[in-house]
Amino acid sequence: MNFTVAIDGPAAAGKGTISRAVAQRFGFAHLDTGALYRAVGVKAEGQGLDPAAAARSLTAEDLEREDLRTLEAGQAASRVAVIPEVRAALLDFQREFARRAGGAVLDGRDIGTVICPGAEVKLFVTASPEVRARRRWLELGGEAAPKPYEAVLAEVLERDDRDMNRADAPLKPAADALILDTSEMSVEAAVAAAVAAIEAALGPDR
Ligand code: CDP
Repeated sequence: MNFTVAIDGPAAAGKGTISRAVAQRFGFAHLDTGALYRAVGVKAEGQGLDPAAAARSLTAEDLEREDLRTLEAGQAASRVAVIPEVRAALLDFQREFARRAGGAVLDGRDIGTVICPGAEVKLFVTASPEVRARRRWLELGGEAAPKPYEAVLAEVLERDDRDMNRADAPLKPAADALILDTSEMSVEAAVAAAVAAIEAALGPDR
């Protein structure tokens, strides 16, 4: 069975949590496409490489680095993500992953719009910038985080701006995406809404 779930949305909206939960629930493979851009950003900026060359030579090892979830890696990712050659280099891998047998969940910024416009289910997960910054700050350790909440908020806003206003594959909901605003939703409620949308698309036979 080929079945693709596309989950897009801005930084720290809860895409990762929802994606992992639905992948587990339905037995789908999960690809965090942000990790690809983070790995390219860290590799290019760390080694002084051309970002497109870094994208073309990405290895499994690059994706296993422990520093990919830092704020710096997120910023580096959004800087290289504006480069069309970088996006093009990552396209086939994502499309092949999406059509693998057994179903797949991909989360990112352009999955429903560019990578998999024919996805069976499209979700756009969002939340207010303040809520998202608070979640990211807590994820980074709260009071023990390397930066105060205000600085995390500023970085979230900067990344939103870059992701939404780039020319190639800007962050925006697909016309037929279900919008999930998780600002005031529990994780359980957000996952339940995603599960319901997938069950409706799978139909009664499953
Ligand atoms: O986890 P978080 O939502 O903070 O970010 P991420 O999903 O790991 O993505 C990091 C950055 O990669 C984003 O800010 C985008 O600039 C870029 N990205 C993209 O352009 N397209 C994707 N499909 C996924 C990520």
